[in-house]
Amino acid sequence: MREKASVSSAKISIEANPSPVSEAKRKELLANPGFGRLFTDHMVMIRYADGKGWHDAKVMPYGPLQIDPACAVLHYGQEIFEGLKAYRLPDGGAGFFRPEANAQRFQSSARRLAMPEVPIELFLEAQRALVKADSRWIPEIEGGSLYLRPFMFASEVFLGVKPSSEYIFLTIASPVGAYFKGGAPAVSIWVSDKFTRAGPGGTGEVKCGGNYAASLLPQAEAIENGCDQVVFLDAVEHKYIDELGGMNVFFVFDDGSMVTPELGTILPGITRDSILTLARDAGIKVRQQKYSIDQWKADAASGRLREAFACGTAAVIAPIGSVKGTSVNFVIGNGGPGILTEKLKAQLTGIQRGTVADPHGWLQRGI
Ligand code: PLP
Ligand code: COI
Repeated sequence: MREKASVSSAKISIEANPSPVSEAKRKELLANPGFGRLFTDHMVMIRYADGKGWHDAKVMPYGPLQIDPACAVLHYGQEIFEGLKAYRLPDGGAGFFRPEANAQRFQSSARRLAMPEVPIELFLEAQRALVKADSRWIPEIEGGSLYLRPFMFASEVFLGVKPSSEYIFLTIASPVGAYFKGGAPAVSIWVSDKFTRAGPGGTGEVKCGGNYAASLLPQAEAIENGCDQVVFLDAVEHKYIDELGGMNVFFVFDDGSMVTPELGTILPGITRDSILTLARDAGIKVRQQKYSIDQWKADAASGRLREAFACGTAAVIAPIGSVKGTSVNFVIGNGGPGILTEKLKAQLTGIQRGTVADPHGWLQRGI
């Protein structure tokens, strides 16, 4: 579709922040980082132009961007992003979990939005360079990590509706704790029956900002109804579970088997894929198939469904305790975390933090 980048990798220059946050202030901030409100001293910026490829790669002080009001992204939303975490390892270094999977998904998102692909090695180098510059921002609190947000937007100054000829690829870093506030034992889910997230042939399987813009109203509806997250049904029959606003979903049954919605219109989560692998390693039967809201309700009532959980980079694994909607209102199991959910969470987070065996070589040393 588009010409490939002219360089497969670019040397990333470093401009250190002349006035980084003081050590005392940083420590104070890192004691309670929350999610997505704090940012580190640096960011990585790499530019792209048709005919020139990727250029001007630099680590630079974190700060506001100046963009033209006619910049294409502000009008037509040509933007994609990723989310991955850097973890403090037991030996004091820092690690990433399957970062090449994020790099690949970023390429697939770019293709769908008619954007140039960031070469895998350049994407990875940008993440490493930022973590190296800002590793002191990895929170030491339990469950803490440095959430990296690579993103790319159309920067051509033009109001015609066409793929931009220029792009800016940035990575920023945010020290984070738990995604869900309050440390509740399980999250509550609101079933959106009015809105859908993605239809066949749409952009549901890629990570573009537009998907999230469209999820905000149904998510607000979830909050209004006292729930933590919205779950979307399929756009064709309004029957089958797709995924949550920012997470995939799994169901655990009384025979020990698991189900997760099949790929197609949902984001192919890296956490989802890792859980499928860990479950299969453990001899658990996992099926990727359609699962309807009616079935969910019936299985929760009969006790056939023992557990359900949401999963994603930001949320990790979050047990689902209850489900509410205009025509449903039910509790799963005892409303708290299930045994298999907790077991998978312990194994996954152990691999991510370098404290349990990593048979698939998922943990990559960042620094
Ligand atoms: N589904 C949506 C809509 C998401 O935003 C996310 C988060 O990235 C996920 C699923 C989970 O994906 P991953 O496990 O790769 O973070
Ligand atoms: C992530 O898990 O990385 C996401 O992008 C989800 C978002 C809701 C923070």
